[in-house]
Amino acid sequence: MSSATWSPESWRTRPIRQVPVYPDPAALGAVEQRLRRFPPLVFAGEARRLKEGLALAAAGRAFVLQGGDCAESFADFTANTIRDSFRVLLQMAVVLTFGGGVPVVKLGRMAGQFAKPRSSDVETVGGETLPSYRGDIVNGAEFTAEARVPDPKRMEFGYFQSASTLNLLRAFASGGYADLHQVHRWNLGFVARSPLAERYSDIARRIDETLAFMGACGMNSANTAQIRETEFYTSHEALLLPYEEALTRIDSTTGEWYGCSAHFLWVGDRTRQPDGAHIEFLRGVRNPLGMKVGPSLDPDELLRLIDLLNPADEPGRLTLIARMGVEKIAARLPALVRAVKRSGRRVAWMCDPMHGNTIATAARLKTRSFDAILGEVRAFFDILAADSVPAGGVHVEMTGQDVTECVGGAHRLTEADLSDRYETFCDPRLNAEQSLELAFLIAEELKARRAGAAGAAAVAAQ
Ligand code: PEP
Ligand code: CO
Repeated sequence: MSSATWSPESWRTRPIRQVPVYPDPAALGAVEQRLRRFPPLVFAGEARRLKEGLALAAAGRAFVLQGGDCAESFADFTANTIRDSFRVLLQMAVVLTFGGGVPVVKLGRMAGQFAKPRSSDVETVGGETLPSYRGDIVNGAEFTAEARVPDPKRMEFGYFQSASTLNLLRAFASGGYADLHQVHRWNLGFVARSPLAERYSDIARRIDETLAFMGACGMNSANTAQIRETEFYTSHEALLLPYEEALTRIDSTTGEWYGCSAHFLWVGDRTRQPDGAHIEFLRGVRNPLGMKVGPSLDPDELLRLIDLLNPADEPGRLTLIARMGVEKIAARLPALVRAVKRSGRRVAWMCDPMHGNTIATAARLKTRSFDAILGEVRAFFDILAADSVPAGGVHVEMTGQDVTECVGGAHRLTEADLSDRYETFCDPRLNAEQSLELAFLIAEELKARRAGAAGAAAVAAQ
């Protein structure tokens, strides 16, 4: 179908998956009406700026760090949780900037990451079967018949929570909280506490020296915005299409449609059917887009989806987020990377090492192992390097809180520890320490690979 026939509601004529069934269509319509009049949450110019950053990542001249909760929650909505996630993302970004030697594009799974696709429409507990929980913007997590009824009013609450979260994030990003010296001091604290302090202290010390050198050259927070402030963008899965449609607006400067619920919108692995509603919606908004790429996707279908989502091959428009699992990545990813490379299409490749590595414990808790996560990231770097394709970034589910949801890491969390502070509303997240550790280990990898590439170039030049 040609883009001429796209409209914010054209998805409604397509087959749709993972859609809640609202019992009262009139109430749904009334909420959609109100949402359509609310101010946009982001400005199209910001989304275009992010797109430029993603274009650099596709070309190997930037690295993207995307992270946050699997599902944000209405109950756990406090300044502290927002601040702590933001802080850990900044801490990770500093370390990755140093390791990769390129700017890091910071993208939160925040301020709108509420709707969840589920593997089953129903959940059975103790003989009782109820509709599945689909995220706080749709229904309630409690296992009661009332809570599980989709309620459109939740979309309005989700909108206001997103607005409030975004407001705080913007204040943190430009109001002094994100100062590089400050972020580095937090990292020194992390390194001092880590059982692997010795291993991490090398990178931390080098960053210290670099900041001191920059200071000696006269670059400080007072005179250099890049030290004092940061750019931070928001993203979520564009799953709940009535909500996304209501926040789709024409940008007054370009006359083009933008999804104004977040800067970056992605389509999940379960809803990326080429003729389906979610692809139809996303192909028409001008935001930079993400697409999750799981083990069931084959190269022909991937090329078809690239055509649909980025027909003009605009740099930065499309980021492919591979989520294969450590067991499957070597068998599934190389053919996809090669097919895209052969087609000449410009995409950024990112690695989501979380969603292919979810396992159930004996106590039936979902968890992920730190080693599997790191293993998938390393395999991802190897596979892309083998075809000389830049590794564009990583996508993680994490929190700034000290939760016990993923096993492993320097503090050696075990399955027996998980019940201590298992707080996620959906998938298991890396806690603050595990997130930082992952960043330090990835930075080591990036640095070693840069040194390897520089060595190879020097040999070639001889
Ligand atoms: C997610 O990112 O939370 C998610 C559901 O991912 P995927 O679509 O890759 O399963
Ligand atoms: Co998840």
